[in-house]
Amino acid sequence: CGIVGYIGMQEAYPILIKGLKRLEYRGYDSAGVALIGDNGKLNVYKAKGKVAELEAFVRDKDISGTIGIAHTRWATHGEPCTENAHPHYSSSENLALIHNGIIENYSTLKSKLQDQGFSFRSSTDTEVLVQLVEYIQQTNQIDLITAVQLALRQVIGAYAIAIIEKQHPDEIIVARKSSPLVVGIGKDEFFLASDATPIIEYTDQVIYLEDEEICHIRRGKELKIVNLHNVEKKHTIEQVTLSLGQIEKGGYPHFMIKEIMDQPACMMDCMRGRINVEASNIVLSAIIDNKDKLLSARRFIIVACGTSWHAGLIGKHLIESFCRIPVEVEYASEFRYRNPVVSEDDVVIAISQSGETADTLAAVELAKQKGAFIYGICNAIGASIPRATHTGSYIHVGPEIGVASTKAFTGQVAVLTMLALTLAREKGTIDEDTFRTVLKEFSRIPEQMQQVLALNDKIAELSKIFTYAHNFIYLGRGYSYPVALEGALKLKEISYIHAEGYPAAEMKHGPIALIDAEMPVVVLATKNRLYEKVLSNVQEIKARKGRVIALITEGDTVMPGIADFCIELPDLPECLTPLISTLPLQLLAYHIAVCKGLDVDQPRNLAKSVTVE
Ligand code: G6P
Repeated sequence: CGIVGYIGMQEAYPILIKGLKRLEYRGYDSAGVALIGDNGKLNVYKAKGKVAELEAFVRDKDISGTIGIAHTRWATHGEPCTENAHPHYSSSENLALIHNGIIENYSTLKSKLQDQGFSFRSSTDTEVLVQLVEYIQQTNQIDLITAVQLALRQVIGAYAIAIIEKQHPDEIIVARKSSPLVVGIGKDEFFLASDATPIIEYTDQVIYLEDEEICHIRRGKELKIVNLHNVEKKHTIEQVTLSLGQIEKGGYPHFMIKEIMDQPACMMDCMRGRINVEASNIVLSAIIDNKDKLLSARRFIIVACGTSWHAGLIGKHLIESFCRIPVEVEYASEFRYRNPVVSEDDVVIAISQSGETADTLAAVELAKQKGAFIYGICNAIGASIPRATHTGSYIHVGPEIGVASTKAFTGQVAVLTMLALTLAREKGTIDEDTFRTVLKEFSRIPEQMQQVLALNDKIAELSKIFTYAHNFIYLGRGYSYPVALEGALKLKEISYIHAEGYPAAEMKHGPIALIDAEMPVVVLATKNRLYEKVLSNVQEIKARKGRVIALITEGDTVMPGIADFCIELPDLPECLTPLISTLPLQLLAYHIAVCKGLDVDQPRNLAKSVTVE
């Protein structure tokens, strides 16, 4: 979900709506806004669907006011509908609250309140919270901030909240636990949001709230931050370096295609200052600073979700091949609930684009408690995961807005490549020639990406042929197996076509039963030591009349005679192929979704930052 708020001298509504649109990638089931109008009324407007629906709904309403909070929702408790949309207000309609996260003990709290005669308009956990605050405030005759403190002490779960009170139109109270919240400081005005994107056009001065901190924002006054027990907390104002251009579409029809096309430039940003081909050197400061810890690791455990988990699988391959250290790759959500065996000589690598994924963050906390050393690979600067880890390397690919992750994946794989090569050299498990060759080729990835992206029109044509397929299979071996998984995920996410990624040789243990003339099969068949094996797999598919789209190394004359369609990729060392072979699969998914007329940047049911578990 996305949260925005404003208090100052300007009209709040336009700032809130613009902010919601910038945050829409975090969820878009429903949206709402609460304003304390110029006449002192608390106006709450909500609509099912996207922010545009909300705008249409408020067209003839009173949208005055210089204080307000707004929300775009990704449903957890209660279906997406107007009643369940935020803001929620209290029974007396004095308080309005927006919330991101989950109140786990909401049903216990709800029944207690029902016993006190409270009734509820929605089926959300959030309404329970606002009613609880009001109940505490009224029964104890206390001010809002104290009531919020007492209420949050009863809450189990995760929250980022903002709350306004009709009777006190000069203040907003915000709080967080395990869900991100940023406060922007302008001149005589304050902004708040789930991340810095809606704030940067107004100010670059921000405070990232810590867990269990409550921030008391008053018009024209200094901010005050306290904990749940009213102890004042010190805060540091940080400067955000994001630019507006980075979060806009730059002439492309969708963020996703912009982000795919940006990959060569992103790769350069990711490598900048880190690699030096002439000197044959890679500098990752996290490795320099923590050399002993990393070199003495007994094993690495990679924790991540979604696309980041796929990058982790490639990371395993890289680290095991080059560094000869065992690596396990875990879904963060499984790891955190399994009571995993983790010890002080383990290094846990947490991979997350947003740096906010609730399961990955919880896995980091758990591994930390167990004494492991934690290395983060994240994109969003200053997010919760990079702040919770001992060290880490940012991927530096700029904000990713399209829900389907693209440039973050290649950025993650690039950092994992640099990490594996650097550690291998330190450990002495890579010979100098291999290091030099791989580094040289790695430095050319931006160029090679450019070459592959030039195939965009060809892939757009190919997509027309497969727009109406109902299923797809993606096959790859070795480094290409995670790429097959990622290709299938991209297609599922934005085209709603059922797709499965499989290790090519496993096809005969199940998926082969699905193959007939209706089944497109994407095969990662670049030249490497397993090429002949993949060729046999393709023969097996063709023998069953499957339609094969093969990604091949340029100059391959055999595969074009067998596969139905071939996409040629530059020749690269095997360990670097994922950085290139993923791109045509991103483009294929993109164009199929466009042909189907689907909402590429905001596919149904998904959200970009999953800050609930
Ligand atoms: C969501 C997004 C995916 C992403 C995953 C993990 O499901 O839609 O694109 O891969 O979360 O997110 P993270 O920010 O931790 O990489």
